[in-house]
Amino acid sequence: MKRDALSNSHSDKLFEQVYEYLLDRIRREEWRAHEKLPSVRTLALELNVHRLTVFKAYQLLKQERHVYVKDKSGYYVQPSSLLPVDSMNDPIVSAYVHKSHLSEIHQVQATYQFSKALIEPNLLPNLYFSEYVKKVFDLYPKVLGTYSTTQGDQELREALCSYYISRYHFHLSPNELMITSGSQEAIDLVARVLVKPRDVVLLERPTYSPAIDVFRRQGANMIPIEITPHGYDLEQVELLMQKEKPRLFYLNPTFHNPTGYTVPAEQRKRLVELAEKYQCLIVEDDPCRDMYFGDEPPLPFFSYDTAGYVIYLRSFSKYIAPGLSIATVACRPSIMNYLLQAKSLSDSGAPLLNQKIFLHYFFSERMQQHLAKLRIALAIRRDIMEEELSVTDWEWSSPPGGFNLWVKLPDSVPMESLLGKCIEKSITFVPGAICDPLRELSSWIRISYSYLNEQQLRDGLQRLVSTVRQLNIKE
Ligand SMILES: Cc1ncc(COP(=O)(O)O)c(C=O)c1O
Repeated sequence: MKRDALSNSHSDKLFEQVYEYLLDRIRREEWRAHEKLPSVRTLALELNVHRLTVFKAYQLLKQERHVYVKDKSGYYVQPSSLLPVDSMNDPIVSAYVHKSHLSEIHQVQATYQFSKALIEPNLLPNLYFSEYVKKVFDLYPKVLGTYSTTQGDQELREALCSYYISRYHFHLSPNELMITSGSQEAIDLVARVLVKPRDVVLLERPTYSPAIDVFRRQGANMIPIEITPHGYDLEQVELLMQKEKPRLFYLNPTFHNPTGYTVPAEQRKRLVELAEKYQCLIVEDDPCRDMYFGDEPPLPFFSYDTAGYVIYLRSFSKYIAPGLSIATVACRPSIMNYLLQAKSLSDSGAPLLNQKIFLHYFFSERMQQHLAKLRIALAIRRDIMEEELSVTDWEWSSPPGGFNLWVKLPDSVPMESLLGKCIEKSITFVPGAICDPLRELSSWIRISYSYLNEQQLRDGLQRLVSTVRQLNIKE
């Protein structure tokens, strides 16, 4: 972690970055319980920051009971700091966890869950699923009697490989494809294999919140790249690639979560060239590609990759069958070998039954009809959301696909109390700050139009608008 990189992100939050950096090292047990931590002076020199910055970070660590102070001697690791907060009193538990901010919000029970970027279950062809399940048991009577391979079912990999080649002109063989249980697993694997503490990782700002949590857990030095409806500032990206030598750039360029923006084709090609030039891997996360409301989106970055710098993550959870949790990772064999080794430490492959059901469902004619209907249903819901919000002075850019509206509320709205107030009224949304590697963007919220039916959408949005108005007047 270098001062340059820190100030590059945000100097007024420098002490929080030092705090997180230290906490991460404590959790990785670089310093054990009761071990002395480096002095303020040593750390200030090492990180090239002011001593007061380190002092403030230590004060925060002390306040949160991660370290304790011995008079005139310095700071020491508090033993309980290595444990998750809720297990601190449990003598059996000796693990430590890193939390996902998004999953915490998903745990809140509410009638109007604008926080969930998932398809309303009624929009899926539930009635027909049993046909596919039966077909799978007829075709593979021993399907429950065996594991998949770690890399995934050969038949499914071959079918998806042909699909990617014909639809997106990928240069790909089935050996360069792995099946995972969702792309969350894929992000986690990629981070575990490729990122070590203090590696520089470029992330969009805002970005998919759990990706921030994963890279933070790895101890990455995260540098944000602004994403706009027109993509990125490529000069800035090039400068950062040149100066900071990032390990990878994690991006979600198609109907981006949370904004709905799509990076234009010219930028995709150019970014792949930059990645090659500066040897920075691109991790392309692409879970919403089929959910377009007008033209099809531009080809994935992976279509332009000739030198092996792009890793392509494709989830099929969101609009095919969330309950099957199927995703793929496409990458060159050198990286694939590492991913396989890492995956074999956590499971023996995604469940074979899920893979076979997915295979027969995904390549059926009914699936294509389902997608076409879903696009229409989602576009209608997006329009309803925009219509309901048209009475406000909130700002957003209409998404041409995906599940979410990324909305800026007026600066006068007291955001610190908004989520709490909304939860009282049985409404949830995703606060912008958790989608921001810098934990700012606090007047932004992500609201999804995919999970509620049309009437619930209208009712919930009217409730949301009136809650915001009431709060705004009171302050
Ligand atoms: C950008 C992005 N990546 C990854 C995921 C996780 O996908 P999965 O459900 O396949 O794990 C999501 C889900 O919302 C997402 O929006």
